[in-house]
This record gives sequence, structure tokens and C-alpha cells, in this order.
Amino acid sequence: MRDARLKEYGRDILQNETYGTLENYIQHGRVTVLEHSLRVAETSLRISDFCRKRFRWSCREREMVRGALLHDYFLYDWHEKGKGHRLHGFTHAAAALNNARKDYVLTRCEEEIIHKHMFPLNVTRVPMCREAWIVTMADKYCSLIETIAMRK
Ligand SMILES: [Fe+2]
Ligand SMILES: [Fe+2]
Repeated sequence: MRDARLKEYGRDILQNETYGTLENYIQHGRVTVLEHSLRVAETSLRISDFCRKRFRWSCREREMVRGALLHDYFLYDWHEKGKGHRLHGFTHAAAALNNARKDYVLTRCEEEIIHKHMFPLNVTRVPMCREAWIVTMADKYCSLIETIAMRK
């Protein structure tokens, strides 16, 4: 079952028709971009819950969840050849940010999460807030799990 906080903080995003199209795009293996994004948001919440309990670090949960939901909002199939997606790893975070800006009013923290989530691949885009670091780590972890599962 999904963490209830996804709906609590991201209801408008999850109910948006364009956001629903993320179900049509594959991220890794058979995992869709929608499924991946929900997993990254949930994993981010688990990391932040752990940090709050263990280190008493608080974080802006709402912005973190919204940024995580939108971090791969690039809206194309990056597996399609010949469509200029060869540099997807380097370019999709900026594309996601552009799309997200068109459809939502983003806070600075949410923008930071989306734009910097490919650090350290995008080595110059260093996350500058705790929430962006958490989503970056959650994204790496989920991508690894999805890629390993794909190989079974
Ligand atoms: Fe990404
Ligand atoms: Fe991702």
C-alpha cells in the first residue's frame, strides 16, 4: 500500500491528466516512469523518517514529495532511437523542470529537487538543500533495484 502522504501532498499532481501519461513511458525494465516516481517519493519519505528519528533532522516533507513526484516529468520515451535522446541522462532533469514549471507553481526547493536529481552525473548541479539530497539518493537506490529486477 502506498504511503498516504503521497496523496496528502501531491493530490493535484496525481490527479492531473498529463501526469497520468507517465504510465505510458518505461523507465527501467517493465517499470513505468509513474511507478518509478511514486517509488522514489515513498523511498524519500522513508529516508526522511529515518533521519528525523535517528538524527532529529526535520525536512520539508510536502516539497520533497512533490519534487520527487515530478523529478522525471520529461514526458517522452527515452528508449526511442533517433529522437535525440542519447544524452537523456544529462538533459532530462532540465526537461522535467521545464514541463513541471508549465503545469505547476513550484517552490525553490521543488525546483532544486527536479533540476539537481542527476547529481553526480550532472556534476555541476550540486543539490543545495536536504530534500534534494534525499530525493537524489532515493532515485539512485530505486533505479538500482529496478535495474537489478529487470535482469532476473
Ligand atoms: Fe531522472
Ligand atoms: Fe528517477
